[in-house]
Amino acid sequence: MARRPLVMGNWKLNGSKAFTKQLVEGLKAELANVEGCDVAIAPPVMYLAEAEAALVGSKIALGSQNVDVNISGAFTGDISTEMLKDFGAKYIIIGHSERRTYHKESDEFVAKKFAALKEAGLIPVLCIGETEAENEAGKTQEVCARQIDAVLNTLGASAFNGAVIAYEPIWAIGTGKSATPAQAQAIHKFIRDHIAKQDQAVADQVILQYGGSVNDKNAAELFTQPDIDGALVGGASLKADAFSVIVKAAAKAKN
Ligand code: 13P
Repeated sequence: MARRPLVMGNWKLNGSKAFTKQLVEGLKAELANVEGCDVAIAPPVMYLAEAEAALVGSKIALGSQNVDVNISGAFTGDISTEMLKDFGAKYIIIGHSERRTYHKESDEFVAKKFAALKEAGLIPVLCIGETEAENEAGKTQEVCARQIDAVLNTLGASAFNGAVIAYEPIWAIGTGKSATPAQAQAIHKFIRDHIAKQDQAVADQVILQYGGSVNDKNAAELFTQPDIDGALVGGASLKADAFSVIVKAAAKAKN
């Protein structure tokens, strides 16, 4: 079954009002005529208003890097699904390894965020992936299965209808050391098969992004792999030219 590729930029803790406007303008110019690939950006929530305004008239979707499980109330510092919807955000990253590490987010808590997003009609971009030590110990599949099972076992396979999973091996994030296309494909196939054990149709449509040192040089080869449906891009998403090369590579490889 043909899946529509999705390339998303995770800006992490970077930018300013001026930077946001400038980068969005750059992306609009570079990607105006590109068809066949969904594109999204997740600036810091501080700059969603600037990004929303700058994206008017563009097919580039807006996203966010996190969300809380509560809708409103006494939850100092948190951001709700309703607030994200207020700015037109659509793709919401949850369970990024940086949040799992620095904010001690558990598999169960991330699954609650997944549920909150589905309830709100937003698209979860569920990040999973193993540490270098887990990789070397041969535990990659076990870790990925556990992180997915937190959602599968609470919400069922159907929760992955219209959802996105980003496989981001932690050793590949920000290191310049991407997984090889073959390595990434093997895990992506494992992830899809894992979901297929519960529901083949859901597994066939779920978008599986690879993330971890994706750049304008290595993207095209990654996208040749059948179960790599796009990329979640960190560092290279901060440059309009590099990010656009990645989007164009996905559009070309998948159409
Ligand atoms: P880099 O592309 O900078 O390695 O970051 C990947 C990532 O964490 C995207 O969410």
